[in-house]
Amino acid sequence: MAMIILGIESSCDETAAALVDDTGRVLSSVVASQVDVHHAFGGVVPELASRKHIEAIAAIVQQAISEAGLELTQINAVAATQGPGLVGALLVGFSFAKAFAFARGIPFLGVDHLEGHLYSVLLSHPTLQFPYAALLASGGHTGIYFVEDLDRYRLLGQTRDDAVGEAYDKVAKMMGLGYPGGAVIDRLACLGDPEKITFKRPFLDKSRFDFSFSGIKTAVSRYIQSHPNSADDSVQADIAAGFQAAVIDVLAYKLIHAAEANECTRVAVVGGVAANQGLRNKLEADCREKSIAVTIPDLSLCGDNAAMVAAVAHHQYRTGKTTHLDADVYSRHRIMVS
Ligand code: KG4
Ligand code: ZN
Repeated sequence: MAMIILGIESSCDETAAALVDDTGRVLSSVVASQVDVHHAFGGVVPELASRKHIEAIAAIVQQAISEAGLELTQINAVAATQGPGLVGALLVGFSFAKAFAFARGIPFLGVDHLEGHLYSVLLSHPTLQFPYAALLASGGHTGIYFVEDLDRYRLLGQTRDDAVGEAYDKVAKMMGLGYPGGAVIDRLACLGDPEKITFKRPFLDKSRFDFSFSGIKTAVSRYIQSHPNSADDSVQADIAAGFQAAVIDVLAYKLIHAAEANECTRVAVVGGVAANQGLRNKLEADCREKSIAVTIPDLSLCGDNAAMVAAVAHHQYRTGKTTHLDADVYSRHRIMVS
């Protein structure tokens, strides 16, 4: 009989629950976004996030179970994101999952959010082979990893300041486009000319895999302040296109370089920013030239979700790892640079 794990994710502003079986099949995946709550504040308000999670969590879990057509008793283990993320938000999903495991007498597993993103690509593309170089680009993290197997990955480099999604969100805020800003800027960029307003590409050292996005964000801010017409529709589109082109050039260059430096012919992009159409197009074109295969998860698996949490938990469970009920959450990431 199939082993079924309930995954729960509540590290930031999405309350999510999913059921995944041991073949990697996603039986259900429910994501409730709090975007409307935080929109007015131009970013995530941690205390509001925790409160919204606590209101939503039981109903979201219930919905995931019923959408899978299962009974509570058919769930064999429960997993939740342990970190990194907002502590108050994490505690909601983590404590709910512990209580669930305790009440049902089933194993509990704490899962790293970044590991979830790294392996999300295997849920939609189970035939993807190791090794692959992965760009993990989200609102909280930006790094390049060399993934050798399910349990073996190395962080090659990461951002020294803002995450790329964070830079998108901050630029969108400056432009009065609301929160979150990634998808809006991406759409606007398609309408603009990327060569009209150009920004310096923040490559740092081209041979290394570190990033920095705070400078380009400041450059956009300076441009907006010194150009009174920058709120015009066509100028906004050109700013978005110029910003996006600069960011994408750096992301694509470093990811491809990471694959080449490790003599690998596969790359993947995961995390919320993997939804970016400009990045997808650029990588497809550049990788085709170099005979590198690009794999990107389905859109539903790019942003925060609980299917990726359950998938990592399956692997942990297979290797005999479970988490004690006195375990705590963590706010900062644990994956170290090699
Ligand atoms: O992975 P995710 O859902 O949450 C975190 O773990 O942070 O990523 C959310 C981030 C936000 O910053 C959002 O603006 C960004 O992903 N994002 C995008 C796009 N869609 C979402 N960034 C660029 N282009 C997009 N199409
Ligand atoms: Zn995430």
